[in-house]
Amino acid sequence: QDPRIARISSSIRIIPDFPKPGIMFQDITTLLLDTKAFKDTIDLFVERYRDQNISVVAGVEARGFIFGPPIALAIGAKFVPMRKPKKLPGEVISEEYSLEYGTDKIEMHVGAVQTGERALVIDDLIATGGTLCAAIKLLERVGVTVVECACVIELPELKGRAKLGGKPLFVLVEGEGA
Ligand code: PRP
Ligand code: MG
Repeated sequence: QDPRIARISSSIRIIPDFPKPGIMFQDITTLLLDTKAFKDTIDLFVERYRDQNISVVAGVEARGFIFGPPIALAIGAKFVPMRKPKKLPGEVISEEYSLEYGTDKIEMHVGAVQTGERALVIDDLIATGGTLCAAIKLLERVGVTVVECACVIELPELKGRAKLGGKPLFVLVEGEGA
């Protein structure tokens, strides 16, 4: 394993029972405070994606907005925000996904990406996989090839990876719990 992973892993703070009892919250704000861990995180993604002809880095609100832009800049790709409903001012396409209770939506501006482009989807964490699955669908609906999804953290117990329809998922660390 890359020696940088251990430092990244230990820089993530676990907060029990947030936002509700039983949830072990994976807090990446402490990773951002560790300048070496933050740089190593971005570098590991950049090393993996720099030679893959990726023209779009799509980041999921909110924490995909933290890791996506520095990766996009470093690999020479554009950054496309995938936002929660009613935040984007222009014409949007949207994709619904299910949560533990009810549904949520993410939206992308029409015209932000073109048919035939190659995208990387980035978020901080995959839990049930619903969010990434919706992001993939949104991009594929407009003819974009999703090369891979990438997250800092995966919670393997929740089996989110299986929801991605075989799409490759690259993660740096595995977390425990739900
Ligand atoms: C968290 C996390 C991922 C998503 C993963 O975001 O940042 O985006 O949940 O869950 P899933 O794999 O079960 O879909 P959240 O929706 O809490 O919002 P935030 O990033 O805006 O804080
Ligand atoms: Mg999120």
